[in-house]
Amino acid sequence: ETVEWEAASFDMGGHDTYMHKEMSEQAEAVDRVLRGRIDDRFSTVHLGGLNLDAREARGVRRIKILGCGTSYHAGLIGAGLIEELARIPADAEPASEFRYRNPVVDPDTLYIAVSQSGETYDVLAAVQELKRKGARVLGVVNVVGSAIAREADGGTYVHAGPEVCVVSTKCFTNTVVAFALLALHLGRIRDLSVADGKRIIEGLRKLPAQIEEILAMEPEIEKLAQEYAGAQSMMFIGRVRGYPVALEASLKLKEISYIHAEAYPASELKHGPLALIEPALPTVAIVPNDDLLEKNRAALEEIKARSGRILAVAHQNQEKADHTIVVPKNEDELDPILMGIPLQLFAYHTALAMGRDIDKPRNLAKSVTVE
Ligand code: G6P
Repeated sequence: ETVEWEAASFDMGGHDTYMHKEMSEQAEAVDRVLRGRIDDRFSTVHLGGLNLDAREARGVRRIKILGCGTSYHAGLIGAGLIEELARIPADAEPASEFRYRNPVVDPDTLYIAVSQSGETYDVLAAVQELKRKGARVLGVVNVVGSAIAREADGGTYVHAGPEVCVVSTKCFTNTVVAFALLALHLGRIRDLSVADGKRIIEGLRKLPAQIEEILAMEPEIEKLAQEYAGAQSMMFIGRVRGYPVALEASLKLKEISYIHAEAYPASELKHGPLALIEPALPTVAIVPNDDLLEKNRAALEEIKARSGRILAVAHQNQEKADHTIVVPKNEDELDPILMGIPLQLFAYHTALAMGRDIDKPRNLAKSVTVE
């Protein structure tokens, strides 16, 4: 079901589409989710509505994150942040898969439901099933007072503001930032050092200005998109922190341009999809300057050896790539927040070049409130 009334009641503010407006609001949206939450004295953050005291937080043995679509992808990045900063085993799963497989519900696991609308039926049903089995469920939700927010035991709002375009952009970014805050909070209750807490806080504070820098690259990204718009299909690759970025970028491209796209961990290429690589199948590669840089470069070489075209999103120019979008560097853990943003613009301009109805892609709805 669509939320038609919303689209009618919001002003586009001079943008041609809601998607463009929402992408352009990301710096201020991130600023909003950070505001009032950072505690420099203890190098941590406060999240008022968690309803999880320090002793309970220490007792959490595992974290399971549930969501659908783009929110699931935000949850995958969130799980990575929680593992890195709080050293709690964490993973994300599509809420629909979770609820249909009669999940084992463990009292030491903290469950987190992620949803922009707070109304997605599969997520709500998973939350209700978990609560029925006595689990503790937190919500990471955008819409205040929504069904999932009400059902959860606590949680945090992502403060992205209203999102009208069917595909999620600013809410995705803010959700990932909200997970970074949660991971830092849990980390500082557990074993994350003061120095690392400070380092992450400094990184978080840099995000809004770095997002503005990326948004200013739009003319360059628009040109690239026009070059790739003729492709029948595209491959997206990344490793560890970069893999969920690749998943989300590929989803964004297929949702609004209808170009077939798939995402693979870079290291899995050799186990099958390398067979597809040829000049007509371009690859978008996420190549951060972190400890996996050399590994990622090796993947670019493998693709180049098969004459595949490569568009890299990286922190420095990549020799093996045909084009590189160079994004500002943050702390390694926070890089995924930034690396997806140029690929939102890339999907947008690809879809525009192909004449698609960007705010209302065929067959899709903003929130799916039925089974
Ligand atoms: C729909 C939308 C997606 C969205 C998903 C989850 O399928 O088309 O863009 O990611 O629902 O929505 P939620 O509101 O739960 O984040």
